[in-house]
Amino acid sequence: MTHPAIIRSSIHTIRKFWTAREIAVRWLALVFTLSLIALPGCDDPSPPDSVSVQDMFPGESWALPMENMGPLQGSPGITARDCGSCHTEHYREWSQSTHAHALSDLQFQSELSKPSSPQWLCLNCHIPVGNQRKEIVRSVESGDLLKPIAEPNPHFDPQMREEGVTCATCHLRNQDGKTVVIGPLGTGRAPHPVVVNRKALQNRCLDCHNVNYKVSSSLVCFFNTGNELAGSDLSHKACSDCHMPETQRQIVKLSGDYPSRLSHLHYFIGGGIPKEFSLLESQLKGGYRSGLGLKLLNHSWNPETKRFRFTVQMSNLDTGHYLPTGDPERFIRISLRIYSGGPPVEKTYRLGQHWQWEPEARQIQDNRLKSGEVRVWQESVKLSRKPSRIHLEAVHIRLSEKNATYMESTAQRVPEPYRSKVAELKKHYPVERVIHREDILVPFSEFSSNKEE
Ligand code: HEC
Ligand code: HEC
Ligand code: HEC
Ligand code: HEC
Ligand code: HEC
Repeated sequence: MTHPAIIRSSIHTIRKFWTAREIAVRWLALVFTLSLIALPGCDDPSPPDSVSVQDMFPGESWALPMENMGPLQGSPGITARDCGSCHTEHYREWSQSTHAHALSDLQFQSELSKPSSPQWLCLNCHIPVGNQRKEIVRSVESGDLLKPIAEPNPHFDPQMREEGVTCATCHLRNQDGKTVVIGPLGTGRAPHPVVVNRKALQNRCLDCHNVNYKVSSSLVCFFNTGNELAGSDLSHKACSDCHMPETQRQIVKLSGDYPSRLSHLHYFIGGGIPKEFSLLESQLKGGYRSGLGLKLLNHSWNPETKRFRFTVQMSNLDTGHYLPTGDPERFIRISLRIYSGGPPVEKTYRLGQHWQWEPEARQIQDNRLKSGEVRVWQESVKLSRKPSRIHLEAVHIRLSEKNATYMESTAQRVPEPYRSKVAELKKHYPVERVIHREDILVPFSEFSSNKEE
């Protein structure tokens, strides 16, 4: 959600506001206790001005968690680990995915701990299944997102909570009084009930990755990836066509004769930046490739004017969506460093969005590459001497240095077991990935000439 950034940018006001708020809350608590003493017979705990979240956000799937799933016939349970007892490889791949880290993500934990975060709402996409929730929020006091009315959930499973976007998110549904697996194949060999619906499985992505909604004046959900794909030349593709590469394999590791089937890797690789350093290696295995095409088209140096000119071409030919897509904070920094003796001169180009958070959240700039777009970046710079080497580089950045430092400095409000890691965030959390690096040597003989490809 655009949430994180908005919350971050207005943090100073919020902190002051919160101190005052805390006092107000304590006052309220005191008044409430007193009123209980004064009215011992009062047994309706829900305040009269509660507003249901479904009324606030009609038809939005993220307003509520999914319902609790019952037991799955033929399976020891419904956690990812249970599924993994038979679907060993799917489980191993998913465990390394960003989906499996959607709760334990250090940035998520840091943002969740902000006093201005409506935690229950964030959790509806990051731990979406009812069973993952200790408490379920169906209404809030006076329409205030920060005053949830929580009901205890008797079906809470603490192990499943840790699993983030777990198998059940996409694969389990309650249908005709029992829990079923939504599958793409229809092999007829599963010990658990299967309803075949490949389209529904594939479209499930959009419930979270295509949400463009102003939740409140300062809280905006801005994930447009589904619309971006729908408007592109690759609209015939599904997200899973690229993010879950095909493979032929047995889909269960059980004794018995299970033939090789059409299967899909479950790493859900995206921008290539995992949530732990140890998972960097799995990115390539899971199918990571950069969506950015980058090329130094030409460059020249004029000895009379002492000007160096260059043209870089960037393209997004096969992602099907904007580059970058998803979280509004992501951006790509392209830099051209020119060496001509002495310190190098650097020129940079930023591909991404800019938002204004106050007084109202608003996107003020968006120069991301659309699907299919080819763009040139042309600049000139004064150089006293002819360059000998040019370095072209692109870095995909998920979290800026500034925000990482801010998170470290506010780690004390993050709950354990995450606090100590957030306090040393940069040691534990990959924030960027170099996606292009190229050195171009300029031959000595090439005097003030054009180098064209
Ligand atoms: C509508 C579903 C939805 C809700 C509600 C939601 N998120 Fe997310 N969140 C996502 C998706 C989808 C992504 C992945 C986007 C990406 O990888 O670019 C994500 C990614 C993130 C990330 C990682 C960003 C990155 O660049 O890796 C953080 C942190 C985060 N969300 C925090 C929050 C917080 C805090 C809230 C509540 C204020 C929240 N989210 C509510 C769907 C949601
Ligand atoms: C006791 C072993 C076992 C457990 C536990 C198990 N499955 Fe299965 N599952 C199977 C077998 C066997 C098949 C069929 C394999 C074949 O035909 O090649 C299957 C098939 C599937 C399919 C494909 C269905 C189709 O035909 O389209 C999906 C999807 C699936 N399982 C998901 C899950 C999920 C999600 C869980 C956990 C909630 C789970 N399974 C738990 C054994 C298991
Ligand atoms: C219930 C909500 C939900 C659903 C459904 C969902 N996602 Fe996600 N997805 C998320 C969240 C949340 C994150 C980010 C977690 C984080 O960064 O902490 C994410 C992250 C991602 C990423 C970014 C990975 C990276 O490391 O850059 C990709 C790619 C992705 N999802 C693809 C898919 C695809 C494909 C589907 C459908 C098959 C899908 N998602 C369905 C919530 C969801
Ligand atoms: C974010 C959604 C999502 C999550 C989470 C997810 N899957 Fe899948 N799964 C899919 C989709 C989509 C397909 C079908 C892709 C297609 O056919 O195009 C699929 C296919 C399958 C299949 C059928 C064979 C194959 O590989 O195509 C099995 C079995 C399966 N998943 C098991 C699991 C297990 C076990 C987990 C958890 C460890 C899991 N899935 C987590 C979306 C998901
Ligand atoms: C034609 C292939 C293709 C399709 C279709 C596609 N993606 Fe991607 N996606 C990519 C590639 C390639 C990247 C890596 C871009 C990069 O970071 O260089 C990516 C990156 C991402 C990211 C990480 C953010 C980023 O820009 O790096 C998310 C999240 C994501 N895709 C979600 C989705 C969702 C959701 C869908 C379906 C609505 C989808 N993608 C459809 C190819 C595709």
